Amino acid sequence: MTVSLDLRAPDIAAIESPLLVVALPADGEPPDAVSRLDDQIGGAIGRTLARRDFRGSRDETLHLSGGATGVERILLVGMGKVAERPAAVRRAAAIAARRATSMGTRHVDFYAGDVTQEEVEAAAVGLIAGAWEYKDLKTPPPEEDRRAPLESAGIVADGPEATSGLAAGLAIGEGHSLARRLAMMPGNLCTPQFLAETAQDIGARHGLAVTVLGRDEMDREGMGSFLSVAQATPQEPKLIALEYRRGPEDAPPVALVGKGLCFDTGGISIKPAQSMELMKFDMCGAAGVLGALEAIARLDLPVNVIGLIGATTNMPSGTAVKPGDVVRAANGKYIEIINTDAEGRLVLADVLVYAKRFNPAAVIDAATLTGACVIALGHTATGVMGSDEALVREVIEAGSRAGEPGWQLPLWDDYRELIKSDVADVKNSGGRPAGTITAALFLKEFVDGFPWVHLDIAGTAYSESDLVTIPRGPTGVPTGTFVEFVRGRAR
Ligand code: BES
Ligand code: MN
Ligand code: ZN
Repeated sequence: MTVSLDLRAPDIAAIESPLLVVALPADGEPPDAVSRLDDQIGGAIGRTLARRDFRGSRDETLHLSGGATGVERILLVGMGKVAERPAAVRRAAAIAARRATSMGTRHVDFYAGDVTQEEVEAAAVGLIAGAWEYKDLKTPPPEEDRRAPLESAGIVADGPEATSGLAAGLAIGEGHSLARRLAMMPGNLCTPQFLAETAQDIGARHGLAVTVLGRDEMDREGMGSFLSVAQATPQEPKLIALEYRRGPEDAPPVALVGKGLCFDTGGISIKPAQSMELMKFDMCGAAGVLGALEAIARLDLPVNVIGLIGATTNMPSGTAVKPGDVVRAANGKYIEIINTDAEGRLVLADVLVYAKRFNPAAVIDAATLTGACVIALGHTATGVMGSDEALVREVIEAGSRAGEPGWQLPLWDDYRELIKSDVADVKNSGGRPAGTITAALFLKEFVDGFPWVHLDIAGTAYSESDLVTIPRGPTGVPTGTFVEFVRGRAR
């Protein structure tokens, strides 16, 4: 269940609420409205600020009791020294909703001073993100021990621009939540078949054409690279295409491509047992494509967008592809498989070849592709590489608007040496040096005739630790980057 969102009349001194969150920047005078509210509760906020018990540092929180009527509880949330208001508001709103959820207040009102349309949108996205939980597989505790879920939230703002901001925030928040739910689902539930059904559901609700290719269809397309990854799995692999066409009929679409490894054991080059369960997250690129299309359709953007997903699992068995095997991709290139754990690029190779038939204006793929990217950029930035500098910049800017920072790595020809094969056109692993770059250079072999950017989200799509705004688990990346990119193209 997603939290339902509404606007609240802008006078916080007149609000009735179980919890009012007041987001404040570091060391600023609080807005007048806060002083009027403070008068009603006996001046607790003013004394707290005067004592410097609360300084408004980023992520700082302070809980105060409200009055007997009006506002029952007040939570001050710090935004720090604010460089970009929308990002600061998004973050504070997420903290607000997370805290309201853990307190069991059922409802929360969020106030961040006078807010622009963009800031209302950011507040909505933040509130939805902070309220998000995945509880489908937990038996609920007995009624009396159960804490109330967060049912609704109010954003203190009014006017037509606030209304538009709220609607956009809801659309984007739904997309994020969908992506996070899919990512959180275990591999035995979120199968390639399930991803295909989810795509069909999005298609049915929003009028998108959805095509799903199985083993036979992919075989007819000559997708020997993708199929080599799937040759040991009993689950039918799926190449999923969603077509959202609300732009001019003849306008070339943007294609969003996602790696959808519903589980990656490594195959014959099997991974160690330690933390292998995290490889259920190896479909976060695909989840981002589905989440983005859900959001884009709800936003009703006047653009043409194709979503493409390569979904399978990577398993060992007697029929599995082996190191040294050579396979042929749909563009005719021969690939020597050095390491069966470098499977994402094998899947994406054929999906990128498939993308060409849509005559795309730009192709962006997102994949939890390399452990090396986590070493290079940690969990802070997505690795960004591409064949077109202007497109790389456009994607990085979209990511930064969405609160999903990206950082470019070079795709210099010198690195291509590392993936030269003795027997085939290219090999699927260049070893440890520059592992993120060689993976991208491998993908580039299958890019033909369109500007392309690759996002390595191995470090950013999920977190192994609590991130203040969201718990351990999927972050929603790259949903926001995809949505902002397409929005940018729609303007
Ligand atoms: N899905 C993994 C990459 C990954 C690792 C994502 C850790 C998130 C966290 C990918 O399929 C993989 O196994 N890549 C190999 C490539 C290597 C064999 C060239 C890797 O990074 O070790
Ligand atoms: Mn792998
Ligand atoms: Zn993988």
